[in-house]
Parts: sequence; structure tokens; C-alpha cells
Amino acid sequence: MRIAVAGKGGAGKTTLSATMARLFAERGFSVNALDDDPNPNLAAALGLSEEEAQRLKRVPRDEILEERVDEQEHASLHMTRPFDEIIAQYGVVAPSGVRTLTMTGLLGAGQG
Ligand SMILES: Nc1ncnc2c1ncn2[C@@H]1O[C@H](COP(=O)(O)OP(=O)(O)O)[C@@H](O)[C@H]1O
Ligand SMILES: [Mg+2]
Repeated sequence: MRIAVAGKGGAGKTTLSATMARLFAERGFSVNALDDDPNPNLAAALGLSEEEAQRLKRVPRDEILEERVDEQEHASLHMTRPFDEIIAQYGVVAPSGVRTLTMTGLLGAGQG
């Protein structure tokens, strides 16, 4: 099952997502939590310490996704590497066993 949470800032998305992730994990489900917020803070909500959260490296989208276009010119995104490998390289395991990834965040200072 995949659950995507999106909407207005400050509505409680991160709090609800982290709580659901922990509850599912505590009930024995294998849970992957992906933070795609431009200002990522799901790791903190999942209970990771600041030090552990610092170990989370932003996943480079170009390295793990490729766009494919079929004969009808429908474009779709596909993963180019096994998900477990991506988690092992970029992820951190939070309390309750939730595997966490950060998909966004600043790459560095720049113009604009
Ligand atoms: N059900 C709730 N009742 C009261 N405060 C809440 C509730 N859910 C979240 N909050 C608080 O509201 C603020 C925004 O929540 P957050 O989960 O960060 O929102 P979002 O991820 O949608 O921006 C946080 O300070 C959080 O602690
Ligand atoms: Mg949030």
C-alpha cells in the first residue's frame, strides 16, 4: 500500500504521516517513509535525533529515476535501482523500524 500526503502548509501532514508510519511499523508492517517536502522535517517527527537526521542524504533524483515514453507518447517514471539498495545508501532507520528517505532539500546556496 502506498499513501501520499499533500496539501496546505501547517495542516498537520508531517505529524499525521509520522504517526501513521510508526503505528504501522509497530503493528509489524514494513514501512518506508519518503519526505518530499522542500523543507524536510519528517525525520524529526519520526523520532530521529538531530545527529541521525544529519546522516540522511538527499536522494539524487536523476540517479534513481528515468523517464520512459511509450509508442503513444505517454511518459512515466521508473526506478533504475532496487529500492533496498537506495535505502541502504541514503536512508536511516528511525525508531519503530521506519525506513526513512529524504527526496528534497537544498543542494547548496545559489542565485534565484
Ligand atoms: N492534530 C493536531 N492538533 C494540534 N496541533 C497539531 C496537530 N497536528 C499537527 N499539529 C501542530 O501543527 C504544526 C504543523 O504541523 P505539521 O505536521 O508540521 O504540518 P505540515 O507538515 O502539514 O506543514 C506543528 O507545530 C504540529 O505540532
Ligand atoms: Mg510538513
